[in-house]
Amino acid sequence: QLITVLCIFALGLCVPTPPAAELKGRKFPHDFIWGIGTSAYQIEGGWNASGKGESIWDHLTHTYPEKIVDQTNGDISSDSYHQWQRDVQMVRDLNVHVYRFSISWTRIMPGGYMNKVNNEGIRYYSDLINELLHYNITPMVTIYHWDLPQRLQELGGWTNPEIIPVFKDYARLLFEMYGDRVKIWTTINEPWHICEFGYGVDYMAPSYNYPGIPNYLCAHNLLKTHAEVVHMYRDKYQQLQKGKIGITMDTSWMEPKTDSDDDREASERALQFYLGWFAHPIFSKRGNYPQIMFDRIHNLSKEQGFTRSRLPEFTADEIRRIRGTADFFGLNSYTTKRVTKNDHNNSKNFPVPSFSHDMGVVEDQDPNWTGSGSSWLKVVPKGMYNLIMWIVREYNNPPIIVTENGVSDNGGLADYGRVDYLNSYLSAILDAIEDGANVQGYTYWSLMDSYEWKVGYTEKFGLYHVDFNHPNRTRTPKVAAKVYAQICKTNTIDW
Ligand code: NOJ
Repeated sequence: QLITVLCIFALGLCVPTPPAAELKGRKFPHDFIWGIGTSAYQIEGGWNASGKGESIWDHLTHTYPEKIVDQTNGDISSDSYHQWQRDVQMVRDLNVHVYRFSISWTRIMPGGYMNKVNNEGIRYYSDLINELLHYNITPMVTIYHWDLPQRLQELGGWTNPEIIPVFKDYARLLFEMYGDRVKIWTTINEPWHICEFGYGVDYMAPSYNYPGIPNYLCAHNLLKTHAEVVHMYRDKYQQLQKGKIGITMDTSWMEPKTDSDDDREASERALQFYLGWFAHPIFSKRGNYPQIMFDRIHNLSKEQGFTRSRLPEFTADEIRRIRGTADFFGLNSYTTKRVTKNDHNNSKNFPVPSFSHDMGVVEDQDPNWTGSGSSWLKVVPKGMYNLIMWIVREYNNPPIIVTENGVSDNGGLADYGRVDYLNSYLSAILDAIEDGANVQGYTYWSLMDSYEWKVGYTEKFGLYHVDFNHPNRTRTPKVAAKVYAQICKTNTIDW
C-alpha cells in the first residue's frame, strides 16, 4: 500500500511530455463538442443482476472461455452497474460535454422481445441519464454495441430479417423511456465488426466461422434495421424530442503501399469494402452498396458456382428508404494499414468465398510505425487526416463526430504514449477541420479500462485505471486523464 501511495504521489509531481512545439496552442472551433465513451458489456458487469437476460457475449464467454485470450468475461468487469455514480464523477472531472455509453438490450428486454420488459433495467439507465443531466453532461446513447440477446441469436441473429421489427420495438421503448432527456442517439456501433468479425470469421460473438455469406446477410438486415429505426424516430419522436440520430461506422485509413496505380486502386477498394459497405447506402447520393463491391462479389460468386450474388440486392424502394438516414456521420478510427493489390483474386485461387478475397487486397503495417499496447494499433495520425478528407470528398462533407479514437497503453498510470497519441491525433483532426472538414465533435475511447472483447483485460484503453483485483474496482486517473481534461477545458492542445 505504501508503494501505491508513493507512486501516486510521484505521479502528481510528474509533468507529461509536452506536445511538439508546432502542436502547442492549437485551438479548436469554439462550439466543438468534447466527449468520452464506453459500452455496456465492456464496463457494467452485473451480467445477470436484477432480471438481466443473457447476451451473445455472456454466452460466448461462458461457453467457450478458451476463445478469449485471458479466458475472462464481463461478468463483473469494471462494475459500472454498481459504480455508475463514480463514473459520472469521472466524466465530470474530464470537463467533457458528452458521455457516450450504450444500453444493454438484455437489461431492458431480457429475451429481446417486448413481451417482457425489465423495469429495473429501465431504471438503471434512467438514473444514469438523470445524474448526467444534473451535472450538465449530455448523454449520447448507442442503442446497440454488440451485445445481442442470446435468444435472438438462436434465431440467426443479424442474418434473420426478424431482427428488423424486433430491434425497432427495442428502439421504440428507448425513445419512449429516455427520448425526453436523450438528444443524441446512434443506432448501431461498428457494423463492419458485427458482421465480418461476428459471422464471417470467428473473432467476436456470435463466433460464426462462415466466410463470405452471412456477413453480407447481416449487413443487409442491419442497414434496413438502422433505416427503419431512423424513420420511426423522425416520424414520431424527432419533432417533439428535438434530438439527432446517426450511426457509428469504423475503418482504419488504407494507405497505398506504393504509388503504383494498382496500390492506389487497392486502397480505394479497401475503403469501399470496409466503410463504403455501410456508408455508401446511407450517405452517398446514389445510395446502395458501392459499385465495386457489387461487381466484384457478383463476378466472384458466379465463378465460384453460386446461382446468384452472395451480396444481397436492395430493391429501389429499399435504396430510397436507407439513403439519408443519418443526421451525422459517426466515425470510429484508430490506426492505418498499408494495402497492396492481391493479384490472385480470382476463383481459381480462391474457390472458397471470403470477404478478404472479395476485397482483393493484402494488408500490412509499416514496422517502423510507432506501436501501442495492441498489436493492430500503430500510431499514424496522418491516417486520421487522410480518412476524414476521404469522407469529405466521398460523401459531400457530412457533419462528422469522431465517436471513437484512442489507444491502449501498457504504461499504467504513467501513460505518456497515450498523451502523445492524443495530441497528435487531435492535431490531425484539426488539420482536417482547417481544410474544410465539418468535424463537430470528438469522443475519446475510453473512460476507463474495461473488457476488451476477444483480448479480455489484456489491453487497456482507459483514461482511468481500474483495479480489477479490488472488489470495488477502484478507479484512478492516469496522466492522460489530466491532459484530456485540460484540452476539454481550454479547447486547446496546450499541455
Ligand atoms: C471499437 C469498439 O467499438 C470498442 O468496443 C473497442 O473497445 C474499441 N474499438 C477498441 O478496440
